Amino acid sequence: MGARDLTPGQVAYREAGKVPTVPPWNPANLTAFRRRPLEYLADCAGKHGDLFRFHVLGLPMIMVNNPANIEHVLVHNSENYDRNAPLFRVTRPVLGNGLIGSSGGEQYRRQRKLMQPHFRPGVVLKFTGNMTDEIDALIDAWLPRADGDQVVNVTDDVGQVALRIVNRSLFTAAVGHAAQQFERDFAALNEILAGFFSMPFPPLNTPGRRRRRMREAIDRMHGFVSSFIERRLAGEEEADDLLSMLMSATHDDTNQYMDVEQLRDEVLNLVIGAFETTTNAASWALYLLATHPEAQERLFAEVRTHLGDRTPTYADLGQLSYTRSVVEETLRLYSPAYQTMRHCVADDVIAGKRIPAGANIYINSYLMHRHPDFWTDPESFDPDRFSPQRSAGRPKHAFIPFGSGPRICIGKHFAMAELQLIVAMIVRRFRVLVPAGQPPVEPQPLITLHPKDGVRLTLLSR
Ligand code: HEM
Repeated sequence: MGARDLTPGQVAYREAGKVPTVPPWNPANLTAFRRRPLEYLADCAGKHGDLFRFHVLGLPMIMVNNPANIEHVLVHNSENYDRNAPLFRVTRPVLGNGLIGSSGGEQYRRQRKLMQPHFRPGVVLKFTGNMTDEIDALIDAWLPRADGDQVVNVTDDVGQVALRIVNRSLFTAAVGHAAQQFERDFAALNEILAGFFSMPFPPLNTPGRRRRRMREAIDRMHGFVSSFIERRLAGEEEADDLLSMLMSATHDDTNQYMDVEQLRDEVLNLVIGAFETTTNAASWALYLLATHPEAQERLFAEVRTHLGDRTPTYADLGQLSYTRSVVEETLRLYSPAYQTMRHCVADDVIAGKRIPAGANIYINSYLMHRHPDFWTDPESFDPDRFSPQRSAGRPKHAFIPFGSGPRICIGKHFAMAELQLIVAMIVRRFRVLVPAGQPPVEPQPLITLHPKDGVRLTLLSR
């Protein structure tokens, strides 16, 4: 094909420069990524800028760390960037055909369209009663321990609450032994996948103890979800919950329901999407409030003024603007879903550089949320940076805790409501404190960003 036959896109690709590459075979780079991936990537960004190629154990990735370019990948040219990328490929045995793991395309779009209406704020408000009930139960359990001495494991306890909330919203189910097993299975799986990510040999499908443990955990989780679906199909129980909404939703082109296997995968994706992310975010939020007493008192004052002693409703959340800023600042600093990947379908150009078909794109919100061009004093906890005045002029894609574009987190409104309610109701009842002598909690980048060893706090009744 002569130069005259090229499309404008092909000409632009041909004229574009090469993405700068972090030298791949330097042994120091390899161990640095495995040991301290966040520091390593921040160091690369300092040396190579907002767009660079790096390697994870030989696998090339292109880091995109600039709001305009992230918007290009996730929004404007999202058709060209699907999820057929390593992060989703290795988690596919767990996520099946559900929304999170689906690589994209027509089948994905139909599914998302079918499910989307059930996650709008108008539906989420139906579930705030589940949220406030479960948070109240946690407060009751914590009250006898709120003497300023006894240490509570916030991550464990809030994790139970997050799991109960999503289970009740999906299945109207109180949690019992089976759900606790589900939580253990999920933790085991997360550990296997995280271990695999730092050392992806042998592949997950190689027979052996790891694969067996993984399979057993997945099978039990499938069994847990399927038991609910079967009871509904058999007409043994009826409920006005997400499961029944999803079971009665039909595709508008064919008028057909989701098949049972798809439903099972979607439900599991929702629980997986909701559980760890919300647990980690709520743990970090309470930890940050414990380490910033002035912010905690300001939040307390806002909650007392607007709510007094009454149980909050969805409508109240709009009034709790400082509480919302605290949640947003937590999601900025410790974005639970801190990394994602895309696979480039056809040659493209980003920031004047060639992105070849087949490239893996890597986006890391831990880095984006600390980019010094968009965030002043990025390491400091400063909820007021989310005030309308200080947010004005900041590019939207400098803050992406829920992603963006057609694949933005479907549970965003659900999560924001839950996090605001957890923080507001707990701080209204307790002063949260860091136990004397406790070292700072460090972030641990697994599949999601964990507080290393969990958040432990002491409580004082107010
Ligand atoms: C603080 C809490 C949460 C955070 C930080 C979070 C973050 C994210 C992010 C960043 C994505 C997009 C990933 C990408 O583009 O590659 C995502 C997708 C998703 N999230 Fe969440 N999430 C949270 C809570 C929830 C909840 C509560 C649910 C369910 C009720 C949920 C269900 C999902 C699902 C199903 C997807 C896949 C959407 C799609 O691809 O169409 N998430 N989440």
